[in-house]
Amino acid sequence: MSNPGLNTVIMAAGKGTRMKSALPKVLHKLAGRSLVQHVLDAAAPLNAVRTVTITGHGADRVEQALTCSGSHFARQMPQLGTGHAVQKAVPQLDMTAAVTLVLNGDVPLIRTDTAAALVQACGGQQLALLTVTLDDATGYGRIVRNRQGQIQGIVEHKDATPEQREIREIYTGILAAPTAALARWVMALDNRNAQGEYYLTDIVAMAVAEGLPVVSAQPSSETEVLGVNSPLQLADLERRWQRQQAETLLESGVRLADPARFDLRGTLRCGQDVEIDVGCIFEGEVELGDNVRIGAHCVVRHAQIAAGAVIQPFTHIDGEGGRVVVGPGAQVGPYARLRPGATLGADVHIGNFVEVKNSSLAAGAKANHLAYLGDATVGERVNFGAGSITANYDGANKHRTVIEPDAHIGSNCVLVAPVIIGAGATIGGGSTIAKPAPAGQLTVARARQMSLAGWQRPLKQPKG
Ligand code: UD1
Ligand code: CA
Repeated sequence: MSNPGLNTVIMAAGKGTRMKSALPKVLHKLAGRSLVQHVLDAAAPLNAVRTVTITGHGADRVEQALTCSGSHFARQMPQLGTGHAVQKAVPQLDMTAAVTLVLNGDVPLIRTDTAAALVQACGGQQLALLTVTLDDATGYGRIVRNRQGQIQGIVEHKDATPEQREIREIYTGILAAPTAALARWVMALDNRNAQGEYYLTDIVAMAVAEGLPVVSAQPSSETEVLGVNSPLQLADLERRWQRQQAETLLESGVRLADPARFDLRGTLRCGQDVEIDVGCIFEGEVELGDNVRIGAHCVVRHAQIAAGAVIQPFTHIDGEGGRVVVGPGAQVGPYARLRPGATLGADVHIGNFVEVKNSSLAAGAKANHLAYLGDATVGERVNFGAGSITANYDGANKHRTVIEPDAHIGSNCVLVAPVIIGAGATIGGGSTIAKPAPAGQLTVARARQMSLAGWQRPLKQPKG
């Protein structure tokens, strides 16, 4: 249900010169999601009836990246200031919505409840500013209050007097305003200031002049209102965000070896007594069952790992486009690679340098060393020997290999798909199998060994 009382405006037209990047600033990623997507996601639960993102620099790319977001777009070209930006959004606002919330596309960690409190404080009757008090307020717009503590205006750093520069309470760039008044105010702005820009912040003095109350609200932490202007600031916010996520997991009982060496770029759901060693990266949607252990330096993406499974260090699991499933009690790695569509049953063992793609291994199956299983259906308790592979690709099409329960594939075998290995069959090491191997029998397909009794090693010819 949308909130008919609310518009949201997201400012994202700025250039981001200090990122020194060809990518528009708001599309840079924090924890795997673009900055502006974080802002949209934080605002989403407020269910604004209308969301307008203001684009300018790299507008095509930004709008394309947000096509599925439900946001409308207003283009601001050239960028003549934050007030000018909101002017461009006005024609797209729902004028019947009492409140308009203004957010910044490069301030990604704003929390939903903070934004909601600001909207509440505005209530369509007052101008509500999100402010914080900083030790070093250099560069920010200062909140000017009278003796009674009432807000009188915002003065930009470049326009501030030496006394005003002493003020440590600053405007975060986020506000909630009565919609009709906001529209009227931004149309009345001028650019007579140090930067020759249309300042959105000048609406505060306008509200005061009209006798409209101006109130402030504060975020729960400074992190919420930090902006990204440079790679250094982006990296700093990334670490703050990761720390928060790590602490949430620790509080829920997950044992992270080191919250400073943990990265989650998506969502991670964990059962009880989960242990995660250092240097792991989780991406997309990952689910870990009770007692799962993840060794050091694993990358796990779009996967469901069932209770009691152990993922040894340096394992790469990527279920993008086909979620990887690891069954209860399974052991994977070290140095294993599970690709999309890998589905491991209970107690399956996948060892070092084994790659599994689009294949299912039923309970108890093992591939412990140096193997490739692609497009294979592997039965219970199958043992797949070291160095063996499924040759699933004929250069044009992929074919399936079926290995029935209890078959043993020796070392260094090539199973040329499509092919079926019958239940309980044994394949001799070094075999290339291109025809069905019958159940219960030994099949060997390699050159017969021979020895030449009178054979002599060639001797080196004397130089003539
Ligand atoms: C603004 C505030 C300042 C506040 C600071 C907080 C004004 C005049 N000043 O300053 O009081 O302390 O944010 O970070 O608003 N943008 C556009 N179009 C423009 C200009 C900016 O879309 O023409 C966007 C930027 O992409 C950015 C946001 O608006 O997302 C803020 O712009 P920025 O240039 O960073 O504002 P500041 O000068 O830092
Ligand atoms: Ca800024």
